[in-house]
Amino acid sequence: MLSDKRDYEAIDKLYVWHPFTQMSDWEVSDNLVIESGNGVYLRDTQGREYIDGVSSLWCNVHGHRKKAIDEAIRKQLKKMAHSTMLGLAHVPGAELAERLVDLAPEGLHKVFYSDSGSTAVEVALKMAYQFWQQTSDRGVKRKLTTKTKFLTFGNAYHGDTLGSVSVGGIELFHKVYRPLLFDVYRVPYPEIRSDDSDYESKIMEQVEKRIIISGHELAAIVIEPLVQGAAGMRLSSPRFLRFLSRVCEKHGLLLILDEVATGFGRTGSMFACQQAGITPDFLCLAKGLTGGYLPLAATLTTDYVYKAFLGAPAEELTFFHGHTYTGNPLACAAALANLDIFVKEKTLVKLQPKIELLATGLTKFERLSHVKAVRQCGFMVGIELAQDGAKPYPAQMRMGHQVCLRARQKGLIIRPLGDVIVLMPPLSIHTQDLKKILKIVYESIREVTEN
Ligand SMILES: Cc1ncc(COP(=O)(O)O)c(C=O)c1O
Repeated sequence: MLSDKRDYEAIDKLYVWHPFTQMSDWEVSDNLVIESGNGVYLRDTQGREYIDGVSSLWCNVHGHRKKAIDEAIRKQLKKMAHSTMLGLAHVPGAELAERLVDLAPEGLHKVFYSDSGSTAVEVALKMAYQFWQQTSDRGVKRKLTTKTKFLTFGNAYHGDTLGSVSVGGIELFHKVYRPLLFDVYRVPYPEIRSDDSDYESKIMEQVEKRIIISGHELAAIVIEPLVQGAAGMRLSSPRFLRFLSRVCEKHGLLLILDEVATGFGRTGSMFACQQAGITPDFLCLAKGLTGGYLPLAATLTTDYVYKAFLGAPAEELTFFHGHTYTGNPLACAAALANLDIFVKEKTLVKLQPKIELLATGLTKFERLSHVKAVRQCGFMVGIELAQDGAKPYPAQMRMGHQVCLRARQKGLIIRPLGDVIVLMPPLSIHTQDLKKILKIVYESIREVTEN
């Protein structure tokens, strides 16, 4: 039986403070209350169905209520819901770590669990920092405690904990916290630009210059590989990643790849860095790790990093970090089932023609009068709206938001990034639903921007 929508909407408005949401707007809006999901569809308390066009914030992989994941969680639940990883191990945690090491680029042999994308990055930052504080007596001749800073990219988004915010660069989200954050060096993201084919090379020069000047202070470089998600689906190349890997190797810096959004098939390969054929020092994973079921994150690193933390307890080289629900067993069980499905259902193989279909379907969006750019990497799409395809809309018009509301009326849930319409369907979506998404978004953009 369906719940009473008005009740839950009212209760929500009374008590819930929603993330990244202007609540004065929320309080006067008609809001959906989702009650169930099945495959790529979500159903609200009124019984209306919607395609989940952003994979419940970029994390759903094989659809909702996927039998194998549901069963894996139930099976684990019969044994135990939670046991700590501080001083104890558990079965699904050990098994999942083994599987992740197997799946990740060669050389990443250690898995540190946490609970969200933000904490996966926070862990990498703290480990990278601490690594340099502790390496001086471990084979490195010079003392390297000066290496405390990070090189990051303009408009980066790495999450909302303060370390992750420090290495982020989205003014709207981050500027208010500036006094609480640590300083970083920042260069522009090496976005692939149609108006400047040398742009990437210019950014490479800037990175090299910064390293020459500040290399002695730099602990690590942090980047979202191939796609900057929250910045509006900005694309960069595998070549740039190979460049970063080379300069890090040459100048003794650690490389942190934030694959929270790009991991688990989103860019067409299991991990984005595999398209560049590189192994970073840290690989940050979350979102799709559990197929979009439960909060779990993992920061993978090398033996080289790991060894700098070994010693007698009194040496205080321990990585003093860990959350209560770090590596929760139910979440690990979901993640194991998620990875099994990738193999059994050949998810990545089946994804390729859908990526093509998406690319073909998107070409006509470029011809819309008020679309400035269409960006796609695998199953990550950003459609940038602009007046006459050139001039940004005034922010108060909230064009992206309006297009998404229109799409919702037509049975599709999407969420914009400013005036960039984001499409990120579950990888398992069938072609007819993918075509439906394209149709709805096309019509919604036309109706909102051309009226
Ligand atoms: C690249 C990237 N890093 C980190 C995060 C933060 O992840 P979470 O929201 O799970 O903390 C996000 C979230 O969108 C992301 O896109």
